[in-house]
Amino acid sequence: MMMVMTMMMVMMMMMMLAKKGKTFLDLPYVVKGMNVSFSRILSYIEATAAEKLNNNECTPANLCYSLQETLFAMLMEITERAMAHCDKKDVLIVGGVGCNERSQEMMRTMCSARGGRLFATDDRYYMLTTEQ
Ligand SMILES: *[C@@H]1O[C@H](CO)[C@@H](O)[C@H](O)[C@H]1NC(C)=O
Repeated sequence: MMMVMTMMMVMMMMMMLAKKGKTFLDLPYVVKGMNVSFSRILSYIEATAAEKLNNNECTPANLCYSLQETLFAMLMEITERAMAHCDKKDVLIVGGVGCNERSQEMMRTMCSARGGRLFATDDRYYMLTTEQ
């Protein structure tokens, strides 16, 4: 039997697992100006993290938690930089990943530190099916 999972389903599973994570694992954090790079994280997952999971040095939940914290922190950093460049205070997040509670919490904290507001959608806007 073939199993087909959309990227969105994988991400939702990771988000659910991330909520159970407690221990932060240092992951490559690559931000240059307005650019983020995920290739070092991917290499790390393929090499080091896979080994740590096999040796029970790391749980899937802690890995998902660390991935989520790291990726969102990178996105917060470039969002804040863009806001500073454009002299904007408010942010509107839309789309599936934008419904993630943790990303909204981080974005809200950053916006309020800048005297701005976050506008975001909730999980009614998750896209569960994709047509390609
Ligand atoms: C970001 O990426 C663009 C396009 O590849 C590139 O032109 C630019 O130099 C990069 N910025 C930094 C700071 O690396």
